[in-house]
Amino acid sequence: MLFQIKSYLKFLWKSKNEHAVHSPFVFNLLTKCFYDKETKPEYAILKKYRKSLLENKNFIEVTDFGAGSKVFKSNRRQISKIAKTAGISSKRAELLFRVVRYFQSETILEIGTSLGLATSALALGSRSLGTNAKVITLEGCPNTANIAKNQLNEFDCNNVDPIVTEFENYLQDINLSLKAESENFDLIYFDGNHSKKATLAYFELLLPTIKNDSVWIFDDIHWSSDMEEAWEMIKNHPKVKVTIDTYQWGFVFFRYEQPKEHFVIRT
Ligand SMILES: C[S@@+](CC[C@H](N)C(=O)[O-])C[C@H]1O[C@@H](n2cnc3c(N)ncnc32)[C@H](O)[C@@H]1O
Repeated sequence: MLFQIKSYLKFLWKSKNEHAVHSPFVFNLLTKCFYDKETKPEYAILKKYRKSLLENKNFIEVTDFGAGSKVFKSNRRQISKIAKTAGISSKRAELLFRVVRYFQSETILEIGTSLGLATSALALGSRSLGTNAKVITLEGCPNTANIAKNQLNEFDCNNVDPIVTEFENYLQDINLSLKAESENFDLIYFDGNHSKKATLAYFELLLPTIKNDSVWIFDDIHWSSDMEEAWEMIKNHPKVKVTIDTYQWGFVFFRYEQPKEHFVIRT
């Protein structure tokens, strides 16, 4: 907790808004997407999706993965509690929706479905972009994935392909299959195992899929000193050009034409 308070104070000290940004690419992203205050009809669907999970008092047996949870002790968990603690906030879900729309991201990979709170934002953001719009979302816990699948169906998020798998297995398969045929994602949302080792391993495994306009979003980059180290290494990677630290999320862009530049931005 103390670590997070210190790191947030550091963030506040360093962070800027659009007035201090000279890159047109980042300036436009901030003014046309991040700071867009206009309500969208899809926000009401996101709200209903969340509400129905928060009202779900059933319990499920959860398979724990990776860095583990800082909140739960037992593996028997109430759905409403998972929705409250493990999922994306309303504000972030709306931002994720806008990011997908802004970048016109048709092919999306989400690493970490949980109950699909972020998946629904990705699905609603992309579904109007064309018949090819698709969100592949990965979850290792079969019972959690099952709730997400039903929930996504109920809310007409039918452009989602939910896959029950350990992340490592799926990402290694992608990495191998790339040798035969290319698979590119317009946007990848990394929200699974929040450890340095796993984050860097997923980063490396997915690097061969990048294209000029790929957008990668890493959740919880300041969650621990371990995650801050991973974020520093990602920023310093020679293929990474522009990064934006919004405290909760780290945005990564590979735009070949752009000089390397890192931004710390209040959202
Ligand atoms: C933080 S939650 C995802 C939250 C979700 N993106 C949202 O915003 O609602 C992370 C999920 O990843 C799953 N997970 C963590 N490590 C995993 C691994 N190595 N393989 C498969 N699933 C994993 C957990 O079971 C958990 O449901």
